[in-house]
Amino acid sequence: MNTNNYQFSYQVYDSIDELNAEDAWLLNEAREVSQNAYAPYSNFLVGAVAKLANGEIVAGTNQENASYPAGICAERVLLSTASSLYPNVPVNTLAISYQQAEGLSDHPVAPCGICRQSLQEFESRVKQPIRLILSGMEGKVFVIEKASSLLPLAFTQSELL
Ligand code: THU
Repeated sequence: MNTNNYQFSYQVYDSIDELNAEDAWLLNEAREVSQNAYAPYSNFLVGAVAKLANGEIVAGTNQENASYPAGICAERVLLSTASSLYPNVPVNTLAISYQQAEGLSDHPVAPCGICRQSLQEFESRVKQPIRLILSGMEGKVFVIEKASSLLPLAFTQSELL
């Protein structure tokens, strides 16, 4: 029997003030765009903003529906938009933030499992890691160099070929 080891490291900053100017700008945009979420059922408003390898900026917010499973997360709205407007262009950095009608937004929240799956396949398709910046409206900031590191032992397209 062998034991395989999976190691995962990420950076933790005390606040947005410790980021470089471009990362801080992107995170501020994500914080602002979370206002555009349509989340009347959860009241959990998520904003995502990315800088693509061609320099374009793309945003996404979560969009809910009375038929709950029809709702879609901010990250997948963003990836679908990026891929539709600029097919095969890598996402360099993706900032994600959130606010709640009632409740604090003082710590980073990481992408859900389905979004991790989508992020993994996007990276694999364009052959470039997506750097994540995660933070609430205030407080600590996590920076993760490769989104797919959040999904060890992923199920990938290679199984289907
Ligand atoms: N949500 C996102 O937009 N991104 C995530 O990674 C986590 C969850 C949304 C989905 C739903 O509209 C609301 O947050 C509460 O789950």
